[in-house]
Amino acid sequence: MALVPVAQLLAEAENGEYAVGAFNANNMEIVQAIMEAARLEKSPVIMQASQGAIKYAGLSFITALVRMAAEESGVPVALHLDHGTSFEQVVRCIRSGFSSVMYDGSQLPLEENINITRKVLEIARPIGVSVEAELGKIGGTEDDIHVTEREAMYTDPEEARYFVEQTGVDSLAIAIGTAHGQYKGEPRLDFDRLARIRALVRIPIVLHGSSGVPDEQIRRAISLGVRKVNIDTNIREAFVGRMREELAQSPGEIDPRKILGPAREAAVEIIREKIRLFGSAGRA
Ligand code: G3H
Ligand code: 13P
Ligand code: ZN
Repeated sequence: MALVPVAQLLAEAENGEYAVGAFNANNMEIVQAIMEAARLEKSPVIMQASQGAIKYAGLSFITALVRMAAEESGVPVALHLDHGTSFEQVVRCIRSGFSSVMYDGSQLPLEENINITRKVLEIARPIGVSVEAELGKIGGTEDDIHVTEREAMYTDPEEARYFVEQTGVDSLAIAIGTAHGQYKGEPRLDFDRLARIRALVRIPIVLHGSSGVPDEQIRRAISLGVRKVNIDTNIREAFVGRMREELAQSPGEIDPRKILGPAREAAVEIIREKIRLFGSAGRA
């Protein structure tokens, strides 16, 4: 199957009241694991390339790997730019074959974020590439900030309504208490805020930093309108964890396939669990 835009998958998710997993594609084994999990669960899936992945694997390799996976999986697959840093990067990714992009202007003043997001939409929409934007600051778990400081970075519902009105963007990433990476304690999402945002913004909501968020909070977020759930860290943990086990068991092993093969299987398992949790299994 050819790559499909994220907006198409999220529109279907909206009708079915489930969410689509967006999994970070960092290397060939992880791309294959995402593909295999989606195929086994008969689920639509989003593969996304972060800044680190683009630097590590290169844009053309990521595009080729995900294209191949989309052809072989037999389920709808989107290739999405994760946290795009500039208009120029968005253009490069679209040119390379991405079916969807995120432009992350969350660090900019509101009007600047609006202007660049609009510019991105101007070039993406006519060619059927969907666009995700971010409002509020999601940040990382390693950022040493107090809860009250973090809350000050949460998405303001009225601002979200204004932003969506002004840009016409396809989906919106919001900050309601998640962070990228491994959590120190248990995250507690601000569901009242999510409900207020949802009441004012009718486009699909995106949850970043979803690794390590307890299952019942993920389910509740989906029931309140989250339609795309981003997972990277949990795949890294499963993948590298299995590599460590293999290396410990066979310290003399020199065939990388003997280490990476089991790691790939561990990634398939965790991705399948997430797909079932998000409710997208059987929706392809
Ligand atoms: O959102 C960011 C990803 O989880 C990690 O990004 O691959 O650039 O380290 P990275
Ligand atoms: P985690 O690594 O916390 O799962 O976050 C992934 C993400 O939000 C990618 O954009
Ligand atoms: Zn993110």
